[in-house]
Amino acid sequence: MSNSSEASTHSRPLSREGGRGDGGPLLAVADLQVSYGGINAVKGISFAVEEGEMVCLIGANGAGKTTTLKAVARMLPAKGEMRLRGERLDLLPSHALIGRGLALVPEGRGVFARLSVAENLAMGAYHRDDDIAADLDRIYGLLPRLAERRSQLAGTLSGGEQQMLAIGRALMGRPQLLLLDEPSMGLAPLMVQKVFEVVRSVAAQGVTILLVEQNAKLALEVCSRGYVMESGKITLADTAANLLADPRVRAAYLGE
Ligand SMILES: Nc1ncnc2c1ncn2[C@@H]1O[C@H](COP(=O)(O)OP(=O)(O)OP(=O)(O)O)[C@@H](O)[C@H]1O
Ligand SMILES: [Mg+2]
Repeated sequence: MSNSSEASTHSRPLSREGGRGDGGPLLAVADLQVSYGGINAVKGISFAVEEGEMVCLIGANGAGKTTTLKAVARMLPAKGEMRLRGERLDLLPSHALIGRGLALVPEGRGVFARLSVAENLAMGAYHRDDDIAADLDRIYGLLPRLAERRSQLAGTLSGGEQQMLAIGRALMGRPQLLLLDEPSMGLAPLMVQKVFEVVRSVAAQGVTILLVEQNAKLALEVCSRGYVMESGKITLADTAANLLADPRVRAAYLGE
């Protein structure tokens, strides 16, 4: 893992200091409900992510994983209670979330195709008025492929490079909690491995991660705990090791 050793030579962590103060989980979600028109996509789910953890949410197409992440990022109207470091996220207007330590890397990446790599990264820090040069250096240290391509237009990057750029852009906001939606989607196996090495390095730098993946095996191999979502509900919650060994998970998600 050359990326992580490179990243660990940097002195400052990628995330800001904690300072939660209440001793509870970093993210706590209780009875989250999201509907699109009359259709209930998320039907009252509860889950939590502790500081420093890497937790995954797995499940089939349409289970409600993306909807859940978007609701946590306050991109969708939702019912239920969501707390970040004890603070009620659901009571904040969505724009007030910026700078509070939460970043979403969306499904499909959403990089700005006509902007360069460097401009995309700068967009991830647009709400900050301090010097972003040191953060850019850190991101390029973590993602050397981006450093080589800093002037290249994002739309001409490979899928895997775009995924790394989307992660790098999110890290420019110095999140404490990174929400990652299907980082492996559409990538060749070798590139999936590279992207996951990056995700591991980010976690090793102290960023808490909530990972959504259809690739359940991969997700459970990198995370310490997981939740299984089916038709808008969480049906299983356990350590990754127990989920990997669970015959129901093996039959439904690991192709056995
Ligand atoms: N904008 C929308 N309008 C109406 N229904 C939606 C919308 N977005 C999602 N849905 C529906 O909500 C349900 C959950 O979708 P969601 O995208 O959260 O699933 P997912 O678990 O992320 O699936 P995938 O693994 O395919 O990405 C699906 O039935 C989907 O059709
Ligand atoms: Mg999805």
